[in-house]
Amino acid sequence: MKLRALGASGLLVSPICLGTMTFGSPVNEADSISLVHAALDRGINFIDTANVYEGYNRFLGSAGGVAEEIVGKALRDRRDKAILATKVGAPVGPGPQDRGLSSVHILREVDRSLKRLRTDTIDLYIIHWPDKEVPLEITHGALETAVRQGKIRSFGVSNHAAWQMAELQAQSARWGWPRVVSSQIPFSLLRREFQHDLDYCQLRNIAVTSYQSLQGGLLTGKYRRGETAPADSRLAEKPQWMWPLNDALFDKLEAVERLAREVGTTPAKYSLAWTLTQPAMTSLIVGVKTVAQIEEALAALEVAIPAEHLPRIDAACAPPWKQPDPLRG
Ligand SMILES: NC(=O)c1ccc[n+]([C@@H]2O[C@H](COP(=O)([O-])OP(=O)(O)OC[C@H]3O[C@@H](n4cnc5c(N)ncnc54)[C@H](OP(=O)(O)O)[C@@H]3O)[C@@H](O)[C@H]2O)c1
Repeated sequence: MKLRALGASGLLVSPICLGTMTFGSPVNEADSISLVHAALDRGINFIDTANVYEGYNRFLGSAGGVAEEIVGKALRDRRDKAILATKVGAPVGPGPQDRGLSSVHILREVDRSLKRLRTDTIDLYIIHWPDKEVPLEITHGALETAVRQGKIRSFGVSNHAAWQMAELQAQSARWGWPRVVSSQIPFSLLRREFQHDLDYCQLRNIAVTSYQSLQGGLLTGKYRRGETAPADSRLAEKPQWMWPLNDALFDKLEAVERLAREVGTTPAKYSLAWTLTQPAMTSLIVGVKTVAQIEEALAALEVAIPAEHLPRIDAACAPPWKQPDPLRG
């Protein structure tokens, strides 16, 4: 598999990244470890986790740590095969220092993540959500410290807008601090809010790593209009994490399915292949429950979206508003 540059980090990653948000529950520890090994064996070298992940047991403010522990065990004898990303910022307890992007929280959490992941260095440390209470230079300063201490190799952002990345870029230019190398955003055929920020990432060599590009499984064709959800599906097991099904949503899902059929592929592969065509899109973080789902994600790399499909996709799954360009069209 051809690896791709992760922005200006100097790291090379696979275009499919293994998501771990369901490690622990519903995917038990042994199966999660098997999934990590199956992914590595198939050429996926990029693994995404977070200090808060503990599968379906997670609630706002729960301690987390479960997915990192499992990933640490899975990589015990093959750490050098993986580019490892984890995140900080989401609540891990009730106290004021148990969340956010202050230096006290970041520098405490990085040590905890290193321990759980059983590693000396995190390849990509990601600030999970913007923190409006903490000045960006405090957050950036803490990340610079962690890089200097060798605890992280590089840092990225998640759920941040382009203007917030531009602020970080300006600080890097001003003080020589590490540059933001990646942006992790929700992005799928059904969720295109960050569409126009992709141009900024392309301009500044920031790698985009999308999450939920299958929209939690909605884009796989497993949910059918008028039918109950399959028993082992996320909608049946964890409806709180899913969008409610309705006719407007099924209109889109069925349109995607028709387009996929025209090129002889599945909606899952088609959806992932389309997401990979987006500017600056470097790696798709895919959540999986089975090895077959890993294989379907990898097979999406072979699917080409015909140019004539692009306006039809936009007609079915509308892009966000774009400023008109009276000068150049
Ligand atoms: N930065 C953030 O704020 C953030 C937020 C959310 C997620 N993430 C990251 O993104 C990763 C992916 O998120 P996600 O799991 O919510 O979204 P997703 O990749 O869109 O959905 C994954 C789910 O879809 C189903 N699925 C996957 N492949 C399938 C296939 N080929 N056929 C049928 N069903 C299939 C599986 O669920 P079932 O089989 O159970 O139906 C799987 O657990 C997470 O693990 C995490 O690493 C980051």
